[in-house]
Amino acid sequence: MVQINDNYLKLPGSYLFSMIGQKVSTYAEANPDKKLIRLGIGDVTLPLVPAITSALEKAVVEMGQERTFRGYAPDLGYAFLRTAIAKHDFQDRGCDISADEVFVSDGAKCDSGNIQEIFSVDNKIAVCDPVYPVYVDTNVMAGRTGTYDVTSETWSDVIYMPCTKENNFAPELPKKTPDMIYLCFPNNPTGSTIHKAMLQTWVDYANQVGAIIIYDAAYEAYISEKDVPHSIYECEGAKTCAIELRSFSKNAGFTGVRLGATIVPKELERGGVSLHALWARRHGTKYNGAPYIIQRAGEAVYSEAGKAQLKEQIAYYMKNAKVIRDGLASAGYTVSGGINAPYIWMKTPEGMSSWAFFDYLLEEANVVGTPGSGFGPSGEGYFRLTAFGSYENTVAAIGRIKKM
Ligand SMILES: Cc1ncc(COP(=O)(O)O)c(C=O)c1O
Repeated sequence: MVQINDNYLKLPGSYLFSMIGQKVSTYAEANPDKKLIRLGIGDVTLPLVPAITSALEKAVVEMGQERTFRGYAPDLGYAFLRTAIAKHDFQDRGCDISADEVFVSDGAKCDSGNIQEIFSVDNKIAVCDPVYPVYVDTNVMAGRTGTYDVTSETWSDVIYMPCTKENNFAPELPKKTPDMIYLCFPNNPTGSTIHKAMLQTWVDYANQVGAIIIYDAAYEAYISEKDVPHSIYECEGAKTCAIELRSFSKNAGFTGVRLGATIVPKELERGGVSLHALWARRHGTKYNGAPYIIQRAGEAVYSEAGKAQLKEQIAYYMKNAKVIRDGLASAGYTVSGGINAPYIWMKTPEGMSSWAFFDYLLEEANVVGTPGSGFGPSGEGYFRLTAFGSYENTVAAIGRIKKM
Protein backbone atom coordinates (compact mmCIF):
# COMPACT_ATOMS: atom_id res chain seq x y z
CA MET A 1 0.00 0.00 0.00
CA VAL A 2 1.18 3.50 -0.73
CA GLN A 3 2.74 5.35 2.17
CA ILE A 4 2.19 9.04 2.66
CA ASN A 5 4.82 11.62 3.55
CA ASP A 6 4.14 11.47 7.27
CA ASN A 7 6.20 14.60 7.91
CA TYR A 8 2.96 16.39 7.07
CA LEU A 9 1.32 14.79 10.09
CA LYS A 10 3.88 16.44 12.35
CA LEU A 11 2.58 19.93 11.49
CA PRO A 12 0.81 21.26 14.58
CA GLY A 13 -2.73 22.66 14.26
CA SER A 14 -3.94 24.57 11.27
CA TYR A 15 -2.19 27.36 9.46
CA LEU A 16 -2.39 30.56 11.50
CA PHE A 17 -4.64 32.41 9.10
CA SER A 18 -7.12 29.53 8.80
CA MET A 19 -7.51 29.64 12.56
CA ILE A 20 -8.09 33.40 12.52
CA GLY A 21 -10.58 32.98 9.66
CA GLN A 22 -12.55 30.43 11.64
CA LYS A 23 -12.68 32.59 14.77
CA VAL A 24 -13.71 35.67 12.80
CA SER A 25 -16.46 33.91 10.86
CA THR A 26 -17.88 32.39 14.05
CA TYR A 27 -17.93 35.84 15.65
CA ALA A 28 -19.43 37.49 12.54
CA GLU A 29 -22.20 34.89 12.29
CA ALA A 30 -23.12 35.36 15.96
CA ASN A 31 -22.95 39.18 15.68
CA PRO A 32 -24.28 40.13 12.23
CA ASP A 33 -24.86 43.77 13.30
CA LYS A 34 -21.18 44.43 14.09
CA LYS A 35 -18.94 46.01 11.46
CA LEU A 36 -15.59 44.25 11.64
CA ILE A 37 -12.40 46.01 10.56
CA ARG A 38 -9.70 43.63 9.38
CA LEU A 39 -6.16 44.71 10.09
CA GLY A 40 -4.95 41.13 10.28
CA ILE A 41 -3.93 39.34 7.11
CA GLY A 42 -1.06 40.85 5.15
CA ASP A 43 -3.01 41.21 1.91
CA VAL A 44 -3.09 44.44 -0.04
CA THR A 45 -6.37 46.24 -0.73
CA LEU A 46 -5.65 48.96 -3.32
CA PRO A 47 -6.31 48.01 -6.96
CA LEU A 48 -3.57 47.58 -9.54
CA VAL A 49 -2.26 50.93 -10.79
CA PRO A 50 -3.08 52.10 -14.38
CA ALA A 51 0.44 51.45 -15.72
CA ILE A 52 0.02 47.81 -14.77
CA THR A 53 -3.56 47.32 -15.99
CA SER A 54 -2.59 48.89 -19.36
CA ALA A 55 0.31 46.44 -19.68
CA LEU A 56 -2.04 43.58 -18.84
CA GLU A 57 -4.61 44.72 -21.42
CA LYS A 58 -1.95 45.08 -24.11
CA ALA A 59 -0.56 41.63 -23.37
CA VAL A 60 -4.06 40.10 -23.47
CA VAL A 61 -4.61 41.58 -26.94
CA GLU A 62 -1.24 40.14 -28.07
CA MET A 63 -2.25 36.70 -26.84
CA GLY A 64 -5.42 36.87 -28.96
CA GLN A 65 -3.56 37.45 -32.23
CA GLU A 66 -1.75 34.81 -34.21
CA ARG A 67 1.32 36.96 -34.86
CA THR A 68 1.92 37.86 -31.23
CA PHE A 69 0.55 34.82 -29.40
CA ARG A 70 3.00 33.13 -26.97
CA GLY A 71 2.94 29.60 -25.64
CA TYR A 72 5.15 28.28 -22.85
CA ALA A 73 7.32 30.97 -21.32
CA PRO A 74 11.09 30.40 -21.12
CA ASP A 75 11.81 28.25 -18.02
CA LEU A 76 13.59 30.96 -16.11
CA GLY A 77 11.45 33.91 -17.25
CA TYR A 78 11.30 36.29 -20.24
CA ALA A 79 14.48 38.27 -20.86
CA PHE A 80 12.55 41.58 -20.79
CA LEU A 81 11.53 41.00 -17.17
CA ARG A 82 14.78 39.42 -15.95
CA THR A 83 16.69 42.37 -17.41
CA ALA A 84 14.34 44.90 -15.79
CA ILE A 85 14.62 43.21 -12.38
CA ALA A 86 18.41 42.99 -12.58
CA LYS A 87 18.71 46.63 -13.59
CA HIS A 88 16.17 48.35 -11.33
CA ASP A 89 16.29 46.20 -8.19
CA PHE A 90 20.01 45.48 -8.19
CA GLN A 91 22.36 47.21 -10.64
CA ASP A 92 20.85 50.67 -9.99
CA ARG A 93 21.59 50.07 -6.29
CA GLY A 94 25.17 49.11 -7.01
CA CYS A 95 24.58 45.34 -6.72
CA ASP A 96 26.38 43.21 -9.26
CA ILE A 97 23.46 40.95 -10.25
CA SER A 98 22.91 40.04 -13.90
CA ALA A 99 19.71 39.04 -15.68
CA ASP A 100 20.77 35.39 -15.90
CA GLU A 101 20.94 35.21 -12.10
CA VAL A 102 17.23 36.12 -11.88
CA PHE A 103 14.68 33.27 -11.84
CA VAL A 104 11.14 34.51 -12.44
CA SER A 105 8.42 32.71 -10.49
CA ASP A 106 4.84 33.06 -9.33
CA GLY A 107 5.73 34.44 -5.92
CA ALA A 108 8.01 34.42 -2.92
CA LYS A 109 5.84 32.05 -0.90
CA CYS A 110 6.34 29.22 -3.39
CA ASP A 111 10.03 30.00 -3.78
CA SER A 112 10.67 30.23 -0.03
CA GLY A 113 8.98 26.84 0.30
CA ASN A 114 10.63 25.25 -2.71
CA ILE A 115 14.19 26.48 -2.37
CA GLN A 116 14.95 24.09 0.48
CA GLU A 117 14.52 21.18 -1.96
CA ILE A 118 18.00 21.74 -3.40
CA PHE A 119 19.56 21.21 0.04
CA SER A 120 20.08 17.98 1.97
CA VAL A 121 17.52 17.07 4.63
CA ASP A 122 20.45 16.78 7.04
CA ASN A 123 21.03 20.53 7.02
CA LYS A 124 20.20 22.52 10.13
CA ILE A 125 18.04 25.57 9.61
CA ALA A 126 18.08 28.76 11.66
CA VAL A 127 15.09 31.10 11.70
CA CYS A 128 14.24 34.40 13.30
CA ASP A 129 11.65 33.96 16.03
CA PRO A 130 9.02 35.28 15.33
CA VAL A 131 8.89 35.08 11.54
CA TYR A 132 6.75 34.25 8.47
CA PRO A 133 5.64 30.66 9.30
CA VAL A 134 6.27 29.24 5.81
CA TYR A 135 10.03 28.79 6.37
CA VAL A 136 9.61 26.37 9.27
CA ASP A 137 6.48 24.62 7.99
CA THR A 138 8.00 23.77 4.61
CA ASN A 139 11.09 22.37 6.34
CA VAL A 140 8.78 20.28 8.54
CA MET A 141 7.21 18.86 5.36
CA ALA A 142 10.69 18.01 4.10
CA GLY A 143 11.59 16.21 7.34
CA ARG A 144 14.34 18.58 8.38
CA THR A 145 13.06 19.83 11.73
CA GLY A 146 13.10 16.87 14.18
CA THR A 147 10.37 16.52 16.76
CA TYR A 148 7.87 19.09 17.98
CA ASP A 149 7.61 20.04 21.61
CA VAL A 150 4.05 21.14 22.34
CA THR A 151 4.95 23.04 25.51
CA SER A 152 7.70 25.21 24.08
CA GLU A 153 6.16 25.17 20.56
CA THR A 154 9.60 24.51 19.08
CA TRP A 155 11.21 21.88 16.85
CA SER A 156 14.20 19.96 18.18
CA ASP A 157 16.34 20.46 15.05
CA VAL A 158 15.54 24.11 14.36
CA ILE A 159 17.80 26.86 15.63
CA TYR A 160 15.57 29.69 16.83
CA MET A 161 17.00 33.19 16.92
CA PRO A 162 14.78 35.20 19.26
CA CYS A 163 13.96 38.72 18.06
CA THR A 164 12.67 40.58 21.06
CA LYS A 165 12.49 44.07 22.47
CA GLU A 166 15.84 43.40 24.20
CA ASN A 167 17.73 43.00 20.91
CA ASN A 168 15.58 45.53 19.05
CA PHE A 169 13.93 42.67 17.12
CA ALA A 170 17.19 41.85 15.31
CA PRO A 171 18.59 38.31 15.56
CA GLU A 172 21.98 37.62 17.11
CA LEU A 173 24.44 35.18 15.57
CA PRO A 174 23.38 31.72 16.79
CA LYS A 175 25.44 29.68 19.26
CA LYS A 176 24.94 26.44 17.28
CA THR A 177 26.15 26.60 13.70
CA PRO A 178 23.34 26.44 11.10
CA ASP A 179 23.62 25.39 7.47
CA MET A 180 20.67 27.38 6.14
CA ILE A 181 19.78 30.74 7.65
CA TYR A 182 16.44 32.39 6.87
CA LEU A 183 16.51 36.17 7.20
CA CYS A 184 13.58 38.41 6.35
CA PHE A 185 14.00 42.19 6.39
CA PRO A 186 11.92 44.29 6.64
CA ASN A 187 10.51 41.60 8.85
CA ASN A 188 7.12 40.02 8.89
CA PRO A 189 5.68 40.22 11.56
CA THR A 190 7.79 42.63 13.64
CA GLY A 191 8.24 45.29 10.94
CA SER A 192 11.87 45.59 12.04
CA THR A 193 14.92 45.97 9.81
CA ILE A 194 18.66 45.78 10.26
CA HIS A 195 21.27 48.26 9.15
CA LYS A 196 23.82 47.43 6.49
CA ALA A 197 26.70 46.91 8.93
CA MET A 198 24.68 44.30 10.80
CA LEU A 199 23.65 42.51 7.61
CA GLN A 200 27.32 42.50 6.61
CA THR A 201 28.05 40.64 9.87
CA TRP A 202 25.62 37.94 8.77
CA VAL A 203 27.17 37.70 5.32
CA ASP A 204 30.67 37.41 6.81
CA TYR A 205 29.44 34.77 9.27
CA ALA A 206 27.73 32.69 6.55
CA ASN A 207 30.84 32.80 4.37
CA GLN A 208 32.97 31.80 7.33
CA VAL A 209 30.88 28.77 8.39
CA GLY A 210 29.80 27.75 4.87
CA ALA A 211 26.10 28.43 5.51
CA ILE A 212 23.61 29.75 2.95
CA ILE A 213 21.41 32.74 3.78
CA ILE A 214 17.93 32.70 2.27
CA TYR A 215 17.10 36.39 2.32
CA ASP A 216 13.44 37.31 1.93
CA ALA A 217 13.13 40.90 0.70
CA ALA A 218 9.36 40.81 0.08
CA TYR A 219 8.86 44.15 1.89
CA GLU A 220 11.87 45.98 0.47
CA ALA A 221 9.68 48.68 -1.14
CA TYR A 222 8.60 49.95 2.29
CA ILE A 223 12.10 50.91 3.43
CA SER A 224 12.20 54.62 4.19
CA GLU A 225 15.42 54.97 6.20
CA LYS A 226 18.74 55.53 4.48
CA ASP A 227 21.07 52.99 6.03
CA VAL A 228 18.72 50.04 5.62
CA PRO A 229 19.77 47.70 2.78
CA HIS A 230 17.23 46.95 0.05
CA SER A 231 19.09 43.81 -1.02
CA ILE A 232 21.57 41.50 0.68
CA TYR A 233 23.81 41.94 -2.37
CA GLU A 234 24.59 45.46 -1.11
CA CYS A 235 26.89 43.60 1.30
CA GLU A 236 30.33 42.52 0.23
CA GLY A 237 30.65 38.77 -0.26
CA ALA A 238 26.90 38.11 -0.39
CA LYS A 239 27.16 36.49 -3.81
CA THR A 240 29.04 33.56 -2.32
CA CYS A 241 26.54 32.89 0.48
CA ALA A 242 23.08 34.31 -0.27
CA ILE A 243 19.94 33.58 -2.24
CA GLU A 244 17.42 36.44 -2.32
CA LEU A 245 13.65 36.15 -2.65
CA ARG A 246 11.69 38.94 -4.30
CA SER A 247 7.96 39.43 -4.56
CA PHE A 248 5.69 41.70 -6.58
CA SER A 249 2.88 41.25 -4.04
CA LYS A 250 3.50 44.05 -1.60
CA ASN A 251 5.27 46.62 -3.77
CA ALA A 252 2.81 46.39 -6.68
CA GLY A 253 -0.35 44.71 -5.40
CA PHE A 254 0.25 41.37 -7.17
CA THR A 255 -1.05 39.15 -4.33
CA GLY A 256 -3.80 37.88 -6.66
CA VAL A 257 -1.84 38.36 -9.89
CA ARG A 258 1.18 36.29 -8.73
CA LEU A 259 4.75 37.15 -9.64
CA GLY A 260 8.08 36.84 -7.87
CA ALA A 261 11.75 36.25 -8.50
CA THR A 262 14.58 34.40 -6.84
CA ILE A 263 18.17 35.48 -7.25
CA VAL A 264 20.80 32.76 -7.25
CA PRO A 265 24.25 34.18 -8.06
CA LYS A 266 26.43 32.20 -10.44
CA GLU A 267 29.35 32.00 -8.03
CA LEU A 268 27.20 30.50 -5.29
CA GLU A 269 28.38 26.94 -4.83
CA ARG A 270 28.81 24.40 -2.06
CA GLY A 271 30.89 21.23 -2.27
CA GLY A 272 31.93 22.21 -5.78
CA VAL A 273 28.30 22.22 -6.98
CA SER A 274 26.68 25.33 -8.47
CA LEU A 275 23.44 26.19 -6.68
CA HIS A 276 22.49 28.28 -9.71
CA ALA A 277 22.64 25.12 -11.84
CA LEU A 278 20.64 23.11 -9.29
CA TRP A 279 17.90 25.73 -9.05
CA ALA A 280 17.81 26.06 -12.85
CA ARG A 281 17.36 22.27 -13.08
CA ARG A 282 14.58 22.32 -10.50
CA HIS A 283 12.84 25.27 -12.16
CA GLY A 284 13.05 23.71 -15.62
CA THR A 285 11.76 20.35 -14.41
CA LYS A 286 8.95 21.37 -12.08
CA TYR A 287 7.80 24.78 -13.28
CA ASN A 288 6.45 26.11 -16.55
CA GLY A 289 6.86 29.77 -15.81
CA ALA A 290 4.74 32.75 -14.79
CA PRO A 291 2.28 33.66 -17.58
CA TYR A 292 3.45 36.02 -20.35
CA ILE A 293 0.66 38.47 -19.51
CA ILE A 294 1.78 38.66 -15.89
CA GLN A 295 5.44 39.03 -16.76
CA ARG A 296 4.51 42.01 -18.97
CA ALA A 297 2.62 43.46 -15.99
CA GLY A 298 5.77 42.94 -13.91
CA GLU A 299 7.81 44.82 -16.51
CA ALA A 300 5.41 47.77 -16.15
CA VAL A 301 6.30 47.99 -12.44
CA TYR A 302 9.66 49.41 -13.57
CA SER A 303 8.30 51.90 -16.13
CA GLU A 304 8.45 55.58 -15.18
CA ALA A 305 4.64 55.74 -14.84
CA GLY A 306 4.56 52.47 -12.89
CA LYS A 307 7.23 53.64 -10.47
CA ALA A 308 5.47 56.96 -9.82
CA GLN A 309 2.06 55.34 -9.31
CA LEU A 310 3.43 52.65 -7.01
CA LYS A 311 5.31 55.20 -4.95
CA GLU A 312 1.94 56.79 -4.18
CA GLN A 313 0.45 53.42 -3.28
CA ILE A 314 3.23 52.65 -0.81
CA ALA A 315 2.86 56.17 0.64
CA TYR A 316 -0.86 55.49 1.18
CA TYR A 317 -0.14 52.32 3.17
CA MET A 318 2.65 53.98 5.11
CA LYS A 319 0.30 56.81 6.07
CA ASN A 320 -1.90 54.09 7.60
CA ALA A 321 1.15 52.65 9.35
CA LYS A 322 1.79 56.02 10.96
CA VAL A 323 -1.84 56.32 12.08
CA ILE A 324 -1.57 52.91 13.76
CA ARG A 325 1.86 53.43 15.28
CA ASP A 326 1.19 56.95 16.61
CA GLY A 327 -2.36 56.11 17.70
CA LEU A 328 -1.33 53.06 19.69
CA ALA A 329 1.65 54.84 21.23
CA SER A 330 -0.53 57.74 22.33
CA ALA A 331 -2.95 55.24 23.90
CA GLY A 332 -0.04 53.94 25.99
CA TYR A 333 0.82 50.75 24.05
CA THR A 334 4.41 49.74 23.39
CA VAL A 335 4.83 49.65 19.61
CA SER A 336 7.54 49.09 17.02
CA GLY A 337 7.73 48.62 13.25
CA GLY A 338 5.66 50.71 10.83
CA ILE A 339 8.59 52.85 9.68
CA ASN A 340 10.27 50.62 7.09
CA ALA A 341 7.44 48.09 6.89
CA PRO A 342 3.65 47.92 6.65
CA TYR A 343 3.54 45.98 9.93
CA ILE A 344 3.13 47.36 13.43
CA TRP A 345 4.17 45.11 16.27
CA MET A 346 2.62 45.87 19.64
CA LYS A 347 3.09 44.46 23.11
CA THR A 348 -0.16 43.08 24.48
CA PRO A 349 -1.35 44.95 27.58
CA GLU A 350 -1.11 43.64 31.12
CA GLY A 351 0.63 40.40 30.24
CA MET A 352 -2.28 39.15 28.12
CA SER A 353 -1.45 36.25 25.80
CA SER A 354 -1.51 36.98 22.07
CA TRP A 355 -4.68 34.93 21.50
CA ALA A 356 -6.40 36.44 24.56
CA PHE A 357 -5.71 39.89 23.10
CA PHE A 358 -7.00 38.71 19.71
CA ASP A 359 -10.34 37.75 21.31
CA TYR A 360 -10.45 40.93 23.40
CA LEU A 361 -9.84 43.15 20.36
CA LEU A 362 -12.39 41.23 18.27
CA GLU A 363 -15.07 41.50 20.92
CA GLU A 364 -14.41 44.99 22.32
CA ALA A 365 -13.33 46.88 19.21
CA ASN A 366 -14.49 44.53 16.42
CA VAL A 367 -10.97 44.79 15.01
CA VAL A 368 -9.15 41.76 13.63
CA GLY A 369 -5.39 41.54 14.10
CA THR A 370 -2.88 38.70 14.19
CA PRO A 371 -1.63 37.03 17.39
CA GLY A 372 2.16 37.27 17.61
CA SER A 373 2.50 33.75 18.96
CA GLY A 374 1.40 32.41 15.55
CA PHE A 375 4.77 33.51 14.18
CA GLY A 376 6.93 31.69 16.73
CA PRO A 377 7.30 31.30 20.50
CA SER A 378 9.02 34.66 20.98
CA GLY A 379 5.96 36.30 19.43
CA GLU A 380 3.92 35.40 22.52
CA GLY A 381 2.72 38.54 24.26
CA TYR A 382 2.80 40.50 21.01
CA PHE A 383 0.26 41.36 18.34
CA ARG A 384 0.54 42.41 14.68
CA LEU A 385 -1.55 45.04 12.94
CA THR A 386 -1.13 45.80 9.27
CA ALA A 387 -1.29 49.00 7.25
CA PHE A 388 -3.00 47.34 4.28
CA GLY A 389 -6.54 48.46 5.14
CA SER A 390 -8.25 51.58 3.81
CA TYR A 391 -7.29 54.88 5.47
CA GLU A 392 -10.86 55.36 6.74
CA ASN A 393 -10.99 51.90 8.31
CA THR A 394 -7.54 52.30 9.81
CA VAL A 395 -8.50 55.59 11.46
CA ALA A 396 -11.79 54.06 12.68
CA ALA A 397 -10.02 50.96 14.05
CA ILE A 398 -7.50 52.99 16.01
CA GLY A 399 -10.29 55.20 17.32
CA ARG A 400 -12.08 52.09 18.60
CA ILE A 401 -8.90 50.65 20.16
CA LYS A 402 -8.24 53.92 21.95
CA LYS A 403 -11.70 53.75 23.51
CA MET A 404 -11.27 50.19 24.86
C1 LIG B 1 7.95 37.47 4.43
C2 LIG B 1 7.05 37.09 3.33
N1 LIG B 1 7.57 36.46 2.27
C3 LIG B 1 6.79 36.09 1.23
C4 LIG B 1 5.43 36.34 1.25
C5 LIG B 1 4.59 35.87 0.11
O1 LIG B 1 4.90 36.54 -1.06
P1 LIG B 1 4.18 36.16 -2.41
O2 LIG B 1 2.83 36.79 -2.40
O3 LIG B 1 5.10 36.72 -3.45
O4 LIG B 1 4.08 34.68 -2.50
C6 LIG B 1 4.86 36.98 2.32
C7 LIG B 1 3.41 37.22 2.35
O5 LIG B 1 2.79 37.66 3.25
C8 LIG B 1 5.69 37.36 3.39
O6 LIG B 1 5.19 37.97 4.46
